[in-house]
Amino acid sequence: MKETHHHIFIEGTNVKNVLILLHGTGGNEHDLVNIGKHIDPDASILGVRGNVLEGDMPRYFRRLSEGVFDEEDLFFRAQELHKFLKEALHHYAPKNEQISIIGYSNGANIAATLLMKHEKLADRAILFHAMVPYRNQEVRVLTNTQVFIGAGSNDPIIPQNETLELIDVLRSNHASVKDIWYNNGHQLTMNEVDDAQKWYASI
Ligand code: MLT
Repeated sequence: MKETHHHIFIEGTNVKNVLILLHGTGGNEHDLVNIGKHIDPDASILGVRGNVLEGDMPRYFRRLSEGVFDEEDLFFRAQELHKFLKEALHHYAPKNEQISIIGYSNGANIAATLLMKHEKLADRAILFHAMVPYRNQEVRVLTNTQVFIGAGSNDPIIPQNETLELIDVLRSNHASVKDIWYNNGHQLTMNEVDDAQKWYASI
């Protein structure tokens, strides 16, 4: 396995379930561990840090300005991350049966790219505060992919129409999407995490 990304792996008591954790801008591989444990206390956890730096803030891909992505870099980084995740799952969790991706903000945006563009890694994704990562390019058929979307109706960084368009793209490509909206901004709240946990436990 090529160590292309800083990461942590925590083996769970149920080695069949693996949660891939992708942080928001300025975060790291440890950020979402408690959230992952809340969602599935028994699963193994693979937390991965983004390879791009904006100032001193790790991200998964470059942006030209807030909400305007460098598509070329997005596709390059998503490919690199996909390769790393595939190898890391094989290396750390060879008995995996159910892979879930949990992403927040920038991490949710690259998670959406992985779903939409790349060979299937995960059956489930929890996307907190996500937007449409790219337009005008092919999207994979997402049959049997379950997605939970948590969104803030007053999120100043992720406009509502961006999340609504993402939901539409996922649904029109046959993903099953549950979206819940909160009267909140960009911050990830415990209500959202609780709802994601209930959704995860129910499917
Ligand atoms: C992004 O750049 O992915 C979004 O604007 C969200 C963020 O700031 O991380």
